[in-house]
Amino acid sequence: MINFIKSRRSCRNYQDKPVTKEQLNEIVECGLMAPSGMNTQEVKFCVISNSDVLNTLEELAGRPFFYKAPALIVVYSDPDNRYAAHDGSCAMSQMYLAAHALGLGSVWINQLKDFVLDPKFDDIMTQLNLKGKTIVGSLAVGYINGEPKERIIKENRVTYVD
Ligand SMILES: Cc1cc2nc3c(=O)[nH]c(=O)nc-3n(C[C@H](O)[C@H](O)[C@H](O)COP(=O)(O)O)c2cc1C
Repeated sequence: MINFIKSRRSCRNYQDKPVTKEQLNEIVECGLMAPSGMNTQEVKFCVISNSDVLNTLEELAGRPFFYKAPALIVVYSDPDNRYAAHDGSCAMSQMYLAAHALGLGSVWINQLKDFVLDPKFDDIMTQLNLKGKTIVGSLAVGYINGEPKERIIKENRVTYVD
């Protein structure tokens, strides 16, 4: 398990191959089971694998901001949830690992957080029921293409008090 966690990497290069509903359900279930402050479980998930919707998002963004992954899992909450960032990040982390366990690649995509505030995206965000929501992040998911670059871990970030 420890080695498994250490071997997870973000993926920014995906095969042109769909992921299945079962795979996505498994990943989201791991997000649903993430810890939440006071067990409020207020973080929600929007699983997008519809290629028309994904194409619209990419066209509006003007660039392939989710690296042409075949699915995007948006983690969001109502704006009055003070634990949104914490709970959503726990869910994102568990989903990152779930994708890894299924042999899939994934990466946190931050941009939707800003797009939801941009009037250009109003129609698509309304269609996705995300208008007015706080978006914590989204996870691009798909089959990995190629190897990630070497990971470099910065030093001197841990203090031990024995
Ligand atoms: C809060 C947060 C936001 C991130 N946003 C993006 C993003 O928008 N696009 C992207 O390619 N990677 C994004 N990442 C992934 C990081 O760049 C990545 O985790 C980091 O480079 C370390 O690489 P690793 O995940 O392979 O260990 C984000 C990660 C976090 C935790």
